[in-house]
Amino acid sequence: MRQAGRVLPEYRQLKTKHTFVEMVRTPELAAEVTLQPIRRFDFDAAIIFSDILVIPEALGQPYEFTEGAGIKMTPLQSAADIDGLDGSAVAERLDYVPQALRLVRETLQDRTALIGFAGSPWTLANFMLDGGGAKEYGQAKRLFYTHRPLFDRLMQKLTDAVSRYLEMQIAAGVDAVQIFDSRGGMMADGAFAEASGKWIGEIIRSLHNQVPVIVYSKGTNGNWNDLVATGAQVLGLDWTVRLSEIRSRLPQNVGVQGNLDPFVLTTTPAVVAAETERLLRDMRGVPGHIFNLGHGVPPTAPLENIQTMMDTIRGFV
Ligand code: CP3
Repeated sequence: MRQAGRVLPEYRQLKTKHTFVEMVRTPELAAEVTLQPIRRFDFDAAIIFSDILVIPEALGQPYEFTEGAGIKMTPLQSAADIDGLDGSAVAERLDYVPQALRLVRETLQDRTALIGFAGSPWTLANFMLDGGGAKEYGQAKRLFYTHRPLFDRLMQKLTDAVSRYLEMQIAAGVDAVQIFDSRGGMMADGAFAEASGKWIGEIIRSLHNQVPVIVYSKGTNGNWNDLVATGAQVLGLDWTVRLSEIRSRLPQNVGVQGNLDPFVLTTTPAVVAAETERLLRDMRGVPGHIFNLGHGVPPTAPLENIQTMMDTIRGFV
């Protein structure tokens, strides 16, 4: 989750010469940025450097990332805008991603797992309708409650495009894929399945168990049954829940990924070590846990703290 972003000096160095979108679209650069955190910290898995917003771009709605302003795109504003999205060239337009994955795979061989990813249709719809970072009461929520047939048409286009896109990443050799439903927690308990869960489920079914699927859904405390119903093999959880307790409520064959509070990485090595150990102790003896943060690496995290987290995990007995 944005593990490379902003914390590494070698990433910042590249950014003085290339824009974010350029780095995403150039296989050699995307591969290099993917490998940077692995070289430094030797994580067990690399996640391909890209963005969830490559899907709207491939459908005809480009995005930009600028320092300070963040992510920006021209919002979809009408039924015509939604019906004008064109899914016919997704594979061709996103060919730079499998190219980058193959370069990374060549370097990593089988030493480090490689994870592909995409945004969930619900999370993508939020960005596309709001023209960037979605708000608590974003336009996707309005569309869901007031124009369901149009909402469903948009979601079907996104579901088809994401399914195709993940299939391409699997063909390029990823070991697992992760679906980011970062806006999953915006919906009321009873609405989550219809707004997000069922579309994720359709994507997962289309992949036919070729690789494990991790679903990260932020803030969806209470929707465990809906999340399990997507068919995900692993649920990625944010830091607001107790991992061991959620684990005990899930079916045995569903693993959990998470969930150190990313903020902890902005503190001191001593705090990082203590909080990392607390999480590891909570999960001691519990099978099916992938250690991860509860969300992305904060841009101000000192590298020393990330190293301390890794040392604590590797040294835990
Ligand atoms: O570690 C990695 O580099 C993995 C690749 C990755 C990125 N984005 C690169 C990135 C992944 C897995 C994502 C996912 C992503 N992108 C999500 C889902 C996960 C999450 O964090 O909730 C979302 C919602 C996006 C859209 C997006 N892209 C946002 C909200 C931002 C931050 C915008 C801001 O205002 O700062 C980005 C930018 C982004 N994507 C960065 C990176 C490394 C930071 C770019 C930089 O600061 O140089």
